[in-house]
Amino acid sequence: MKIIVVGTGFVGLPHAAVMAEYGHEVYAYDIDATRVAAYKTGEAEEIERYVNEPGLVSAIQETMGRYLFFTSDITDVVEGTDVFFFCLNTPPKRDGSTDLSYYTNAGHTVAKLLAERKDKKRVVLVNKSTVPVGTARLLQNIMNEHNVENFGVASNPEFLAQGNAVDGSRKPDRVVVGADTEEDFQIIRRIYAQFVNHVRIRYLETTPETSESIKYVANNLLLTYISFWNGVGARIAETFPNIRMEDLKIGVTSDSRISTWGSYVSNGAGGSCFGKDIQSMIYQLNQAGRRTDLLQAVYNINEYQKVYLIDRAIHEAGFNFNQKTVALLGLAFKKRTNDMRDSAALKVVEALLAKGVTSIRAYDPLAADAAQSYWFNPEKNHLFERITYFNSAKEAISGSDAVYVSTDWEEFRGLSHTIDTTVQPPYLVIDGRRMIPDAQTLVDRGYDFLPVGGMFMKGKR
Ligand code: UGA
Repeated sequence: MKIIVVGTGFVGLPHAAVMAEYGHEVYAYDIDATRVAAYKTGEAEEIERYVNEPGLVSAIQETMGRYLFFTSDITDVVEGTDVFFFCLNTPPKRDGSTDLSYYTNAGHTVAKLLAERKDKKRVVLVNKSTVPVGTARLLQNIMNEHNVENFGVASNPEFLAQGNAVDGSRKPDRVVVGADTEEDFQIIRRIYAQFVNHVRIRYLETTPETSESIKYVANNLLLTYISFWNGVGARIAETFPNIRMEDLKIGVTSDSRISTWGSYVSNGAGGSCFGKDIQSMIYQLNQAGRRTDLLQAVYNINEYQKVYLIDRAIHEAGFNFNQKTVALLGLAFKKRTNDMRDSAALKVVEALLAKGVTSIRAYDPLAADAAQSYWFNPEKNHLFERITYFNSAKEAISGSDAVYVSTDWEEFRGLSHTIDTTVQPPYLVIDGRRMIPDAQTLVDRGYDFLPVGGMFMKGKR
């Protein structure tokens, strides 16, 4: 099948590479010519500057020039194309609604070219990005405006998590296809021949609107589940003595109806999707005059979770942040990424600065550069000058009065030794990710310990 993937970011690039692995003729198209030129080199460093996903570079290298082609101009390749996949940014606006401008611009570009094509064979325009319910119809209207003939629209949402995009594209849990006609379903079935009738992959065909809703309901439910553990499970263990958070989790999630995924309590879930998607769903339902109490509560719980350990440090540990130096370990929204979007660290830094912290000593194995672009704006907020970046946890901790662990990087599991050999008590350890398994040793040696999902432990002094 001949495929054009429109948009080569985190979703489009892995999808294009995996479709090429499956033997389709794939044109990965992006209006950003610099990005396309970087991909065309086939070099890891160039590709990873834009999308850094395990297995991606080798998938591109193995298919490029034979099945996979990069281009910033599709004028000459539109002829004969079976399917367009739209994989474009759909960022949130201030009011929570979804900015569809990248999406509609690309729609018009494609529509103009399709209107002029010579072959009039059926072409299907598929949305992979997370888009508001009804967006497939919007695309249909754009095509009609340009008098495109013989086309269908479809929704086929991606469910990829960062760090697993290539594997997730090769072995999805489910493939959801929302289309209007049997002809269009058939074309998409040929694209996904490997997944249809697969023993383990659920291949679901439904309406475009149902398909668009599935993505929102899934992401909103995952965030609700995480927020339940953060707002209820963790809260109980933080309030009543002698509760072991890990045992609580095992006891509850051993029920085959209850998932372990999402039960890892944290200082809030971040990333480019959960916050954006719940706000968009709230907006969409509110626009239709519906109440959204549960979604609103989940959103608020998750946002508060990002800073509540600072409140606990003040009220439970009696720590006064004013004029203090704090080491901040982990800046990205989760491990193995440099993505700062909606990361808890953004809110933690704001809260620490507001509490009068004089210096923040930050360390993240990948995200320091990305973080600086968020915070390096002295004109806007000179307080950000108080953040200094270090190359190791040890250097960041050195000379600080407290440490705050914000990301679940595995290397932080060995922190108690680093703390013990770098700083002297009195010293406060705030563990926003339950990364320090041997906290009791620290407490026995005089360090104060405040974990998410556990009671405050005063150092023995
Ligand atoms: C998420 C979903 O997992 C994907 O299924 C979805 O396709 C994607 O959003 C999207 O809409 O594109 P992602 O944002 O990459 O993927 O990251 P997750 O691994 O789901 O983590 C999100 C946040 O939740 C992170 O901050 C993570 O640390 C946190 N989390 C995750 C917890 O706090 N507890 C957990 O048990 C799991």
